[in-house]
Amino acid sequence: MAKIKIGVFGGGRGSSMIKFCKLYQDAELVAICDKYQEVLDKQKEQDGVENVTFYTNFEDFIKHDMDAVVLANYATEHAPYAIRCLNAGKHVFSEVLPCQTLKEAVELIETVEKTGKVYAYGENYCYMAGPREIRKLYKEGKLGEFEYGEGEYIHNCEPIWPDITYGEESHWRNNKYSTFYCTHSIGPIIHITGLRPVSVVGFEGSLTERNLRSGAKGAQFGIEMITLENGGIVKSVHGNLYKNSIWYSVYGSKGRAETAREDADLDNVSMLYVNADEYSGEYPKNKKPIAYKPFIDEKANDFGHSGSDYYTMLNFVKKINGDEDADVIDVYEALDMFLPGLMAYRSILDGSSPVKIPNLRDKAERDLYRNDVACTDKNIAGDSLLPTQKGGTPTIDKEVYQNVYKIWRSHVEDEKNKN
Ligand SMILES: NC(=O)c1ccc[n+]([C@@H]2O[C@H](COP(=O)([O-])OP(=O)(O)OC[C@H]3O[C@@H](n4cnc5c(N)ncnc54)[C@H](O)[C@@H]3O)[C@@H](O)[C@H]2O)c1
Repeated sequence: MAKIKIGVFGGGRGSSMIKFCKLYQDAELVAICDKYQEVLDKQKEQDGVENVTFYTNFEDFIKHDMDAVVLANYATEHAPYAIRCLNAGKHVFSEVLPCQTLKEAVELIETVEKTGKVYAYGENYCYMAGPREIRKLYKEGKLGEFEYGEGEYIHNCEPIWPDITYGEESHWRNNKYSTFYCTHSIGPIIHITGLRPVSVVGFEGSLTERNLRSGAKGAQFGIEMITLENGGIVKSVHGNLYKNSIWYSVYGSKGRAETAREDADLDNVSMLYVNADEYSGEYPKNKKPIAYKPFIDEKANDFGHSGSDYYTMLNFVKKINGDEDADVIDVYEALDMFLPGLMAYRSILDGSSPVKIPNLRDKAERDLYRNDVACTDKNIAGDSLLPTQKGGTPTIDKEVYQNVYKIWRSHVEDEKNKN
């Protein structure tokens, strides 16, 4: 196995991938880029960076001698950087989300096809113990054909909003629409079944005081009701509801598998219940579900998001090293996870009417979307700018952002004083 030279773009969330590169024998961390010196200084204080070069500028970073780049920059800016990296001959690991617009989706797919480089989408929730095991059972046929599934990713980010938006009104989190950040809830169901989504109906919650006082201009949560190519239905819900939940459930023609609810206090997504009647031998033939904690590599225990952050990077490096069985999410599947959210918002703006999901595997269909830049980012959308929620984009007083900024800085100072 060759050691893969990896550069990490974005040193906040990128810390998790930096840690992987330091620990895994087939990876070598060679460069880190972040425009904030404060973020780089924090990385420089850590062990294992003696041979790492630090950059504040992408144009210098991309020239570094490396095989692969991890994109852990802003969620709305992955596609343009992925395209730059692929064209420069680098393999790409992209944090969520894969792109912001349909135009970018087409460009991204075509660049991956043209360059032949590995593109791996870092939808880590697919690799949490519960969803990973449901996928295994599904592939073994123990659940039968997919009929219905649900995915939930509820994260009340209000307490950490200052630390993740820094009081910047233009921060992507403050301007995202309700169904944008959709792949934590949709992704695992797509990865389990391998089925392509074909149409979607979207719904969104209201614009609440909780969001407005944080500076967030989108509705509180989003829902996608998705039809898959075999006629199966998926319900996906995600957003800032008050109590957190990560939960997946899959109904097949032979049974159901689902993870534990958070309130049951039973290791939630790491605990699985399987209630499937027609399998061979492995489970007792009774009506009761069996409950167990699926295997997780002990090396994964040190990684975030229930160990899933370990598996995303592990599979990326294995794939680059030629392992055809490496479980990576390729660019087509990444878009199967993302386009339902993008199209659900169009449904919402059209009174929750059903909307077709583009099939970008079909080269002829790509031409319909090649110039489609509609999104909530004014720098990208031009005349196609969308409102941040169905009733329009709210105006939020500058003082809200100034206040959020002050809270963030006080947290930074507290942290410095602790060390
Ligand atoms: N998969 C997960 O569980 C998970 C969890 C958290 C965040 N994320 C993803 O990680 C990414 C980063 O998260 P975030 O934005 O919340 O936090 P973050 O604090 O990691 O911010 C991104 C970092 O990238 C740097 N950066 C952005 N553009 C740059 C540029 N042009 N040049 C140099 N540096 C640049 C910023 O300075 C910042 O430090 C996002 O895509 C987010 O969706 C994923």
